[in-house]
Amino acid sequence: MISMEDFIRGIPKAELHLHIEGTFEPELMFAVAKRNNIRLRYGSVQEIRAAYEFTGLQDFLDIYYEGAGILTTEQDFYDLTLAYLRKARSQNVLHSEIFCDPQTHTARGVKFSTVMEGIHRAITDAAEESGISARLIICFLRHLDESAAMETLDEALAYKDRITAVGLDSTEIGHPPSKFRGVFDRARGEGFLTVAHAGEEGPAEYIRQALDLLKVSRIDHGIRCLDDTALIDELARRRIPLTVCPLSNLRLRVTGAMESHPVGEMMRRGLMVTINSDDPAYFGGYVNENYLAVARAFNMTREDIGRLAKNSFTASFLSGREKDRLAAKVDEYMNQYG
Ligand code: ADE
Ligand code: ZN
Repeated sequence: MISMEDFIRGIPKAELHLHIEGTFEPELMFAVAKRNNIRLRYGSVQEIRAAYEFTGLQDFLDIYYEGAGILTTEQDFYDLTLAYLRKARSQNVLHSEIFCDPQTHTARGVKFSTVMEGIHRAITDAAEESGISARLIICFLRHLDESAAMETLDEALAYKDRITAVGLDSTEIGHPPSKFRGVFDRARGEGFLTVAHAGEEGPAEYIRQALDLLKVSRIDHGIRCLDDTALIDELARRRIPLTVCPLSNLRLRVTGAMESHPVGEMMRRGLMVTINSDDPAYFGGYVNENYLAVARAFNMTREDIGRLAKNSFTASFLSGREKDRLAAKVDEYMNQYG
């Protein structure tokens, strides 16, 4: 019988919560900074990694936006995205739904089209190279106001064929989903699906608002749902997917030890949980390391891992036919190694 580590490594899976700017590895950061004539305040890759000790979400975001600020040309976005998709494919990720934060770049004078073209070209090339499929979700920055999000949505309209959904990320506390009701209404009217980070650091009430006001198809993180029994019941009944990121929560001190992470209870309560990496270059692990961390902490069975992998396809924005095709690959794998 293969080890749990090998079992996790090999199982076909999708990744549904991944910020492309959060895949910016220090090695690539140095290369991109050099070709853009940008001086980093770090002298080496080791020095950068040593700086990744976060006290909370905001502390992380400050460093994350600094790193993202190096990305300037279409080639930068291409290289970043291709490197992530190659890494993901090496972990048997067959489909990925990628977040990007256009406002982080357009606020510095980088064109929306530069970001889109670079990412799109990488998605196309990666699909040709390895068969991995990917979709793009643009996130509005919640620390900015709704009118800035509206301007971003205006720009996104020309890229409807390349953008599947809109999301909401950045500083959560003090920036409730209700602040973005108008722009999400308009985005849905234009045919975009919607998701939102909610209940990462913020309260269960923000998850409720994301469902009721933003009408999201998935909740990103959502771990604070455990504070509200009626909410748990509704999430379970409606099979609303929650894109949980265990290593992120640990590194941002949103939760304590992995053994007490909410994901165990969330699965016991019958929620549609998926496992994801969030910002893998900053949190010490890609998707397989996240699966392995929860598998070890909760002494999970292969059945549990199989369910998480299957959920990842079911919860994706792929067509019903594609979901069935990929879920069947999980069944096949389970029959062989489960
Ligand atoms: N942007 C990148 N990672 C994020 C996270 N974990 N929460 C909110 N915004 C983010
Ligand atoms: Zn996130």
